[in-house]
Amino acid sequence: MNTLIEVRDLSKTFTLHQQNGVVLNVLRGLSFSVRGGECLVLHGHSGAGKSTLLRTLYGNYLPAGGSIRVQHQGQWLELVGAVPRDVLAVRQQTLGYVSQFLRVIPRVATLDVVMEPALARGWRGEDAQARAQHLLSRLNIPQRLWQLAPGTFSGGEQQRVNIARGFMVPWPVMLLDEPTASLDDGNRQVVLELINEAKRAGTAVIGIFHDRLAREAVSDRHLDMTPQALSDKSLTAKELQQC
Ligand SMILES: Nc1ncnc2c1ncn2[C@@H]1O[C@H](COP(=O)(O)OP(=O)(O)OP(=O)(O)O)[C@@H](O)[C@H]1O
Ligand SMILES: [Mg+2]
Repeated sequence: MNTLIEVRDLSKTFTLHQQNGVVLNVLRGLSFSVRGGECLVLHGHSGAGKSTLLRTLYGNYLPAGGSIRVQHQGQWLELVGAVPRDVLAVRQQTLGYVSQFLRVIPRVATLDVVMEPALARGWRGEDAQARAQHLLSRLNIPQRLWQLAPGTFSGGEQQRVNIARGFMVPWPVMLLDEPTASLDDGNRQVVLELINEAKRAGTAVIGIFHDRLAREAVSDRHLDMTPQALSDKSLTAKELQQC
């Protein structure tokens, strides 16, 4: 399979303006690439920068330096410094992201939340609805909840709605931030099956999994994000709290 995402020398800093302008070097010179059908798992302690890396790849954070290239509609596209129109097109067609928590929009029904990525790609309403219903059933969201907005759902239910939305359409590249956290064994198994189905369909996956069994079920390679030596890195906010 071909390489679908390529990251070179990526770095990300946070400047804490409210705290004497302290600069945190969270990502330093990261380079890796992922092929279609492959899952790269991010390893590293809490605060190592795993979620920051996924958010940077998705374009939520501007990197301090480096390159993020994705295969978008048959061509390489540089995401660092890309114009908003290209970033939006990549987020619609190429790069899927399942964040740790569902961003709930008040009054929008669960079924509509899940269908949205397909409608944005121009699917017919009935096809989108059939796929959304299939995913919600597989993820054990009771049918009586489908017409309700997920704002009042339990944490695990919201996470499963988030996952259904994330897997609604096929993606060349998927970013997964702890998709199996806070799920019971049965639902975790469904999510692992969805990930493996996406891999078989050719998706390049970059994921964070705290649970070892989940990791082993999907991982092909891992990226070690533990800093070589703490002295080599500014203390992160979490580490400062622990001092
Ligand atoms: N928006 C932000 N502003 C300032 N600092 C941030 C911001 N986001 C993350 N950080 C800091 O960057 C470091 C990495 O955070 P990140 O959430 O990426 O860690 P993580 O590896 O995902 O940890 P966990 O396993 O606990 O989820 C932390 O020390 C955090 O405090
Ligand atoms: Mg995280």
